Amino acid sequence: MDKVSFTQMKDGTKEDYEFLTAHEIDHTKHTAKRLLKALVELDEGLSGYQITRLGHSLQSATRAWCDGADTDWVVGALLHDIGDIYAPYNHDEYAATILKPFVREQVTWCVATHGDFQMLYYGHHLDGADPNKRDRHAGHAYFEDCAEFCERWDQASFDPGYDTLPLEFFAPMVEEVFARTPYDPDVIRPGAREPLVNPGIAAERG
Ligand SMILES: [Fe+2]
Ligand SMILES: [Fe+2]
Repeated sequence: MDKVSFTQMKDGTKEDYEFLTAHEIDHTKHTAKRLLKALVELDEGLSGYQITRLGHSLQSATRAWCDGADTDWVVGALLHDIGDIYAPYNHDEYAATILKPFVREQVTWCVATHGDFQMLYYGHHLDGADPNKRDRHAGHAYFEDCAEFCERWDQASFDPGYDTLPLEFFAPMVEEVFARTPYDPDVIRPGAREPLVNPGIAAERG
């Protein structure tokens, strides 16, 4: 079989659906490769900054790496703006949806809400924008984590003079994360908080 027999889903057979399931499993194995390609496409989007969106993504991930952050944080930082391509009005939620089955809940939440937290840095310059938009999340268990994510890694990463690591450096981490069992409770760990900064590991990474 190289194609299913049906033209309407309701007419499909058991064999059709077993065939499709096998196809989907194969397709999911290449998610990391597709995401890395999408990151390169980010380079073509949204001009006006001193660095490209890919440059910003890589710089955010580099800062996370240099802070001694774990793989979930580094990959979250790398992909946090990937929604810019197709979802300019909710790019944060879009990126979080991609990450959600494969990283700690803490990281997904911070990526999902970073747009509200980022307003702190420029909302006061724009009519009708609320620099304190993040306050709607006040009291949330991960509020301080997202505030730190934005302060250390996101808002800081627009510097063309920074020594940013290349995409190839992060590719194995992306491959590792998206090869995980989706929604593995040992990965998601609801409520668990890992620090963004680990001085000991940061010192080892130089
Ligand atoms: Fe963003
Ligand atoms: Fe960003």
